[in-house]
Formats: sequence, structure tokens, C-alpha cells
Amino acid sequence: MLVDGFQRTISYLRLSVTDRCDLRCTYCMPEAMQFLPRRDLLTIYELYELTQGFIARGVSKIRITGGEPLVRRDVIDLIGRLGRQLGNGLNELTVTTNGTQLAGCASALANAGVRRINVSLDTLDRETYATLARRDRLPDVLAGIMAAKEAGLSIKINVVALKGVNEDSLPNLIEWAHAEGHDVTLIEVMPLGDVDGDRVDHYLPLTEVRKALDKRWNMVPSDHRTGGPARYFDVHETGGRIGFITPLTDNFCNGCNRIRVTATGQLYPCLGGGERVDLRTALRSPNPQAALDSALCEAMRIKPERHRFAITERGAAPAQARHMSVTGG
Ligand code: GTP
Ligand code: 5AD
Ligand code: SF4
Repeated sequence: MLVDGFQRTISYLRLSVTDRCDLRCTYCMPEAMQFLPRRDLLTIYELYELTQGFIARGVSKIRITGGEPLVRRDVIDLIGRLGRQLGNGLNELTVTTNGTQLAGCASALANAGVRRINVSLDTLDRETYATLARRDRLPDVLAGIMAAKEAGLSIKINVVALKGVNEDSLPNLIEWAHAEGHDVTLIEVMPLGDVDGDRVDHYLPLTEVRKALDKRWNMVPSDHRTGGPARYFDVHETGGRIGFITPLTDNFCNGCNRIRVTATGQLYPCLGGGERVDLRTALRSPNPQAALDSALCEAMRIKPERHRFAITERGAAPAQARHMSVTGG
């Protein structure tokens, strides 16, 4: 079992298979983002080996992330291998995707045993989308979501709430998602890595969004849990759910059950922390089992109590130089 210094049991692995992405969302990365050389990435087999180490130590949920995971061609191979372990130590295998490649992958994901995916979609307006993602790909994302629905996947729409960008159209986006049968999670923008602007310009506390949505709909706190940081509400009028991910306005770290591993095998015990443990060296050592044991012990020892993200009127200086795309969130 993986238990950290605050008696939190780690059961959820977020595994990034690439830092690359075919979009350049303005809150996530600069246009001129430098990606890692491909030769630095672990092979699919090495990633699989790592997951086995985690499953053996009690991890029961694995989320495949990026960058954009579906831009890595052999990711389906990894997902297929992991899918065969569902019910055998692994309870949930899932993916967070920007949706651009989903139309071509949805049935392969469903066939591999994936039941639920999270798709990032911040607006339904094509121009706003093209400005925000710096790529005109909304039609591909909508086609991907449709294909995923047809393949029987349950879909949650991830929406980063941004002042002056999608703030006014959030109810519209939520209504659309609920009518399509998808839950929605709203997310506060986190200061990770430099971007071309200052995140403070668009930071929207979800406390404000909650107030506005509360006036519009009857929102009842829900017992629904997905194992992630969102806290959910049932919306009486739409019949759907809205999750709130509030790292800045309502810290959720005391219930943390997660760690993340990057595509180069670096384990970050906290999204908001810079400390990491190198699993690649452990994996490639003469005695990988023992080396992994001691690396994971170290990771549990250094996992901090909470992140230290902060956004104030004075600005949103990145808490970490690392971008969200390196750990996949
Ligand atoms: P579910 O399984 O549906 O609960 O997914 P999830 O919310 O765990 O995963 P997803 O990849 O959809 O992440 C949604 C948002 O939550 C992203 O912006 C992540 O960066 C953020 N997130 C996930 N885990 C953490 C965490 O431990 N700390 C912080 N601050 N944010 C997190
Ligand atoms: N703050 C909050 N969410 C972010 N994401 C990417 N960068 C940030 C950030 N700086 C979101 C994406 C995706 C999820 C993995 O993280 O929109 O939904
Ligand atoms: Fe790509 Fe996701 Fe970052 Fe957007 S938020 S650029 S989709 S990794």
C-alpha cells in the first residue's frame, strides 16, 4: 500500500504518456512551447511495467493523460494491455483528452475496457475556441464527443472557467452538455508554467460562478464521487451534474489520493510541488523491484500536505516552472 506522511492512501495514478499536444491552450502553454525530445520518453512497455508496480501496491484507478494522450500513436496498445487487468487489481481505466483525435479512437478505447472519459472543452463558440486553443479544432472535438457517445463511453466535459472568455457562456455550455447526457466539471485556472499572458487577467474564482449558477438553477450537493478532486452538485432543472474543482478557493488536498507520473518516468507527488522522484532510473536499474520500492517510499515521504497555488490581484506568478502538460494535470 502507498500511504503518505499524512496517512493518505494513494489509489489513483495519473499517467502521462506524452507532453505533446496538438493544441496550445493559452492558459496551459505558450505558443512556442518546447516539447521533450521523443527519445527521452519511456517506451509503452516501460510505462506498462510501471503501472504493474503501482497496481501491485494498491493503485486501483489509472487515468491516462498527456499533453494530449491520443497524439501518441502507441497509446492504444498501452490502454489495451491495461484494459485486460480491469477486475484484476484495477477498477477503473480512464483517459483525459482534448478530443481532437477522439473520433478515430473512441471505439478502440471502449473495446479496451474504458467506460468513462473526460474531454476538455471550454466553449462551444468556434471563434472563441480557436482563440483559446490557438487552433481551429472545435468541429473535430464535437465529432470526437459524438463518436465517444456512440461507442457507449460516458463523458465528462472539463471546462476551465475564464473571466471575460467563457464566463458568460458557461450556462449555455452546461445546458448543452447535460442535454447530451454529459456531466460537466468546472476548473479554476492554476498557475503552472509561464504562458504568453498573465493568468490573473482571466482567473475566475468558482465561488463567483457557483453564486451565479445558484441563482439560475436549483443545485443540490451530491454524494457522487469519481475519485478526483471535484465536488458535485445535481442540477434539478437539467437533470445533470456539475463538478467544481477549486484548488484556489476551497482546498481539497486533505482528501488527496493521487500521484502523477510523467512520460519520462518522473513521479510528482503533488501537482503544485516541484519535488519529484525518478522512476526511470529505478526501472532501468539491475534490481527494478527493490529500486521501485525505495523510490515509492521516498515519494510517499516527500508528498506535501497541500499545494501552494495562489493567484492575487498582484498577479499569478507560476507556483512551478513546469507546465500542466508535463504531468497532465
Ligand atoms: P475524475 O476521475 O473524473 O474525477 O477525473 P479528475 O478530475 O481526477 O481528472 P481530470 O484529468 O479530468 O482533471 C480535471 C482537473 O483536475 C485538471 O485541471 C487537473 O489538473 C485537476 N486535478 C486533478 N487532480 C488534481 C490534484 O491533485 N490537484 C489539483 N490542484 N488539481 C488536480
Ligand atoms: N489550470 C487549470 N486547468 C488546466 N488545464 C490545463 N492547464 C490548466 C491550468 N493551468 C486543464 C485542461 C484539461 C485538464 C487536464 O487540465 O483544460 O481539462
Ligand atoms: Fe493541450 Fe490540454 Fe494544454 Fe490544451 S490544456 S494545450 S489540450 S495539454
